[in-house]
Amino acid sequence: MANAGRVSMRGIVKRHGSFTALHGIDLDIAPGEFFALLGPSGSGKTTTLRILAGLEPLDAGQVMLDGVDVTAREPGERDVAMVFQSYALYPHMTVYENIAFPLRMVGTAKGETDRAVKDAAAKVHIDHLLARRPGELSGGQQQRCALARAIVRKPRLFLLDEPLSNLDAKLRLETRVELRKLQRALGVTAVYVTHDQEEAMTIADRVAVFMDGRIVQVGRPQDIFARPATSVVAAFIGSPPMNLLPADLRDGELRVAGVPLPAPRMAGRDGPITLGVRPAALRIAERGLPARVYLVENLGDTTIVDLDVAGQVIKLRTEQAPNVREGDHVHVAFAPEAMHVFDPATGQRREG
Ligand SMILES: Nc1ncnc2c1ncn2[C@@H]1O[C@H](COP(=O)(O)OP(=O)(O)O)[C@@H](O)[C@H]1O
Ligand SMILES: [Mg+2]
Repeated sequence: MANAGRVSMRGIVKRHGSFTALHGIDLDIAPGEFFALLGPSGSGKTTTLRILAGLEPLDAGQVMLDGVDVTAREPGERDVAMVFQSYALYPHMTVYENIAFPLRMVGTAKGETDRAVKDAAAKVHIDHLLARRPGELSGGQQQRCALARAIVRKPRLFLLDEPLSNLDAKLRLETRVELRKLQRALGVTAVYVTHDQEEAMTIADRVAVFMDGRIVQVGRPQDIFARPATSVVAAFIGSPPMNLLPADLRDGELRVAGVPLPAPRMAGRDGPITLGVRPAALRIAERGLPARVYLVENLGDTTIVDLDVAGQVIKLRTEQAPNVREGDHVHVAFAPEAMHVFDPATGQRREG
């Protein structure tokens, strides 16, 4: 297949003076995959994407596309298309001319360009807007124009840097679905940068979680959710994210805020641990950890209850309207199977 789109990055290091933005990134992306680079602001996602596109020089490492070392190649020689957060459309050109631009640059014939532009515009539903200029389009339409320009050359690799972040919440959800459908229809590999964990988890086949210039976990969304590799990943994924509580293990017994609880299977050796429990795994019960209801947040179909446990606020999430009010003294319980155990010193997940 001509446009396979297999990506392999090895030992990518990027420095800005004495600051190291990337500490040795290794990444393998399969042809046709929708792959998300997820992490907080400043964690190195954009830098990684720009290195993949050839827009940023690197200090060490290797970038391979379909088995070919492209580390030294110019962006134009890589057969990749990039969509930025700011759509970077040419304001003086029409939508048609904007979409046609990448083809003009490579000297594509007029008839072929015309067909490709109309085809790309139709795929993102802006074929009725070709005569307008970007200033005459809504934010969502501009974003589609940028997408059309990216797909018009049928690149093997589609790089997107927070492409939905300038859209309002409703449009963002709609466009997310369409983007995914478009990528499937084109069969192109997509590398998608976002700081929004929900966006990454819903749109991607696989996710790489970035923290401080390192990849801390790679996996399918459901696997990262079920088994976060570190307490930092655990605290970043889910909405609300996992609760983390200091706890102690001694002689097979677990103590949280001084209260004994059945120890989870994977607890491991005695000593302090960080205990993780997802908000949906908590319930109000007759026994368990004593807690005070701090805040009840009704979101319609779900309710989030903030609970003060020995001075630390944890969150409970439930679909049933809980019969509690702010200030109530309650107990909160959870099954041993719902517990995640992390090493408090290293943050690493412990397995039985
Ligand atoms: N030109 C630059 N000079 C100095 N530091 C930079 C430069 N570009 C990026 N950085 C730093 O590198 C880190 C990673 O940046 P970036 O890849 O843009 O993060 P992200 O996209 O995850 O928010 C950040 O700390 C950022 O401040
Ligand atoms: Mg960025």
